[in-house]
Amino acid sequence: MSRRIFAGNWKMHLGPEDARQFLKVFLSRYRHEAGREVWFFPAAVALPAVAEAAGGRAGIVVGAQNVHWEDQGAFTGEISAPMARQAGAQAALVGHSERRHIFGETDEQTGRKVRALLRHQLTPVLCVGEKLEEREQGHTLQVVEGQLAALAGLDAAALGQVIVAYEPVWAIGTGKNATPKDAAEVHGFIRAWFAARGVAERHTTILYGGSVKPDNVKPLLAEPEINGVLVGGASVNVATWSEMVR
Ligand code: PGA
Repeated sequence: MSRRIFAGNWKMHLGPEDARQFLKVFLSRYRHEAGREVWFFPAAVALPAVAEAAGGRAGIVVGAQNVHWEDQGAFTGEISAPMARQAGAQAALVGHSERRHIFGETDEQTGRKVRALLRHQLTPVLCVGEKLEEREQGHTLQVVEGQLAALAGLDAAALGQVIVAYEPVWAIGTGKNATPKDAAEVHGFIRAWFAARGVAERHTTILYGGSVKPDNVKPLLAEPEINGVLVGGASVNVATWSEMVR
């Protein structure tokens, strides 16, 4: 059965108390459905609150927004993969566009983070996507291919653990989104990249992100190439998020 993932990236919103309240309301409206998964990426300080509130409910996954590539050390302000795991994470975002473009994260660093997560049995969700000028110059696939190079050298078994989120930078938080057809073209390219390295096409999970809202989610998910959505703004309001998931 194909997966349908609704992933909420809370970014720098919702502390532990807000998160507990959110989950209380969300879970009162939530019914597990086969094939549908709801993933939460809270701020690191709210990870334990979300993990405890979700309490292993079927179809719910909790992840960190970012981890460092080392397991421990003198890296003020960072958290490591084993720390995220101890706080209740089962997954983590890697290379989100805000990490890349505000904090200067490189493909070399995203590659090391993916490996750190795999070492600790956490699912990496590698975010890729082009800027507006790169799309306008027709460089979208080249940019995405360059970002996928962070996975170079991983074998098929490891690659099979990785989820990719395609998020065009020009669509994040702007109210613009790629058409399902534009997204499908890039998803198809990513799927072929994995297939060329031994991962069965049906096995690769690729999310779309960038201004996904309750009123545009249906046509995106109707596109067979799109296995789910990664949602920022519309995921931090419990009414909007519950509606979208429903
Ligand atoms: P947005 O964010 O839904 O607010 O555009 C998506 C993301 O950054 O993951």
